[in-house]
Order: sequence, then C-alpha cells, then structure tokens
Amino acid sequence: MGDFLTISGMKRTDLVRLLQATRRNLPVAEGTEPHRTSLHGRVIANLFFEDSTRTRCSFETAVHRLGGQVFNLTPSGSSMSKGESLVDTARNIECMGVTAIVMRCGVSGGAQMVADGVKCPVINAGDGRHEHPTQALLDVSTLLEEFGSVEGRTVSIVGDISNSRVARSVTHALSLLGASVRLVGPPTLVSKAFEHIAEGPGIVRVMTNLDEALDGSDAVMMLRVQFERAAGGAIASDYRNMFGLTPERMARLAPHAVVLHPGPMNRGIEIDDRVADDPMRSRILRQVTHGVAARMAVLEEVVASLEPVCR
Ligand code: CP
Repeated sequence: MGDFLTISGMKRTDLVRLLQATRRNLPVAEGTEPHRTSLHGRVIANLFFEDSTRTRCSFETAVHRLGGQVFNLTPSGSSMSKGESLVDTARNIECMGVTAIVMRCGVSGGAQMVADGVKCPVINAGDGRHEHPTQALLDVSTLLEEFGSVEGRTVSIVGDISNSRVARSVTHALSLLGASVRLVGPPTLVSKAFEHIAEGPGIVRVMTNLDEALDGSDAVMMLRVQFERAAGGAIASDYRNMFGLTPERMARLAPHAVVLHPGPMNRGIEIDDRVADDPMRSRILRQVTHGVAARMAVLEEVVASLEPVCR
C-alpha cells in the first residue's frame, strides 16, 4: 500500500477492500476474538502535533490488537518546541527503525510533506483542513453495518464544512460508493464549490436549510464547529436554531435514519444531549469501535507491502 494519505484519488476497489477488512476486524477490535500477530516485532510511531483522543488512542489500540508496539510523540515535551520542523522530526523518528509513521498535524498537506521526506510509510491521521482518511473509513463502515450498502443512500453532513477534513474525506468516500451527500451549513461555512468534490457516481449537493436536508436523509453526520480554526467568527448567535440537531429535528427523520458525529462534540451547539445519547438513533460511540477496526485494516495493509521483520 505504501502511504495512506487521502481518500481522494483512491480506486473504488481499494476502498471496498479496506472496508471489508474493517468489517472482519470488528470482533478483534471489540475484544471478542483473539489478538493477531501481523505487527509482531514492528514499532509504529504516533506523531500527533494536534490534540486527539479518538484517533490517537484507537491507532494505539489497533497496534496492540495486531501484536505490535507503538509510541507517541506530541508537541509538548518534543523538540518541536525549539523550532524543529515536521519533516526533520519525522526523519529523526524514522531513523529509530520504526515501521510506519502515523501523523496528525494542523498543516493542510502536512502528511504529504512528511511522506515526501521519509522512506517509511506515512498514515494521515488528519492534516489541517485537508483529509482524515481513516475517519472516512470508520464512518462508512458504521453506515455499512447499518444499511448493508450505502449505494443510493442519502447522507447529510451538517455544520462547519469548510474547516472539516472529515467532511472532505467522507464525502469522497460516500460519493465513490454511490451515495448522495448533502453538505449543509451557513454560506460562511460551506460554499457551492464543494459540489465539485464528488469522486464517483454519488451526487454532492450544498444546502443551507437543515430541515429540507433532513427530509429523505438516511443518516445525518453533525460536525463540530471548529472554534480553534476561527469558525466562531463565521457562525451567528442563532446557529443552534438554524443548524443544531435538536430532539424536535431528530423527530423529523425517517424511522430508520441514524445520527453520527466524528467527535469531539460541542453539546448544546451542533447537537443536543438527547440526540447524542439517543439509544435508537445515535451511532456516535459505535463509530469509535469501527475506528479501531478501520485503523487495524490500514496498518495491516501497510505492513503487508513491507519486507518481513527480523525477529
Ligand atoms: N474524530 C477525531 O478525529 O477525533 P479526535 O480529534 O479525538 O482524534
């Protein structure tokens, strides 16, 4: 496989194979089947230059479930505080004999920059506003568990689209698999240009009315307003009324429709407590379990293309 940096540009067959592997990994991720040994003797470096709970911990868990070892580097306590660059940091870590680098950073395109600077495979764990490809795998895998197929389904992705690497990656994946995607938000957070990011047969439509979008949606993915990327200045004081998923809005959804959120959630802004915690509709915690399975799938593919390790 080499690097795993984007969903954009992926072949449908490659995406389907990773999703099938994710599905097979679920019992191991859940702890109901024994660990594997495919990463035995391998060391994976988790370089997280932006904060993370789900992605970092699920990559760590995935490595453990595959019998490998993993270490974390975060900016506090690293020499990046002395001005060392992303690429220099990654090059030094590579020379410690790691098998692969998992990297999150705030720079859009940062994962590609690092991949160009090192020889070992790089897995993008989210780079700025660009892509978050393993998140797309886990989101689609969660929907596949629900619906069997996403072809012909309609998924609304709601909120801070312009700052969202999740929205980009999952839209690429869903459109490649033939789902229709509605990107919903205020014009300050989603422009018509997003209609051109479809990667396959699925139609991508930009909408500014959430209630219209919910009609006919099979799934709704709420996005966090990314205050750290200045989205706060782009939302009005009535944001929750316009774009928040409230219990009243949730009641408008078709009976089979489900609610997703990549996390972390701003409860009371884009999603209300009673929606996030709804036992019938919410698949938000289920997404997290799929995250471990998806990251196992990517790690196993990356390692399968490498020379065997000395034991
Ligand atoms: N969904 C996601 O990327 O969450 P974290 O920022 O906690 O990793």
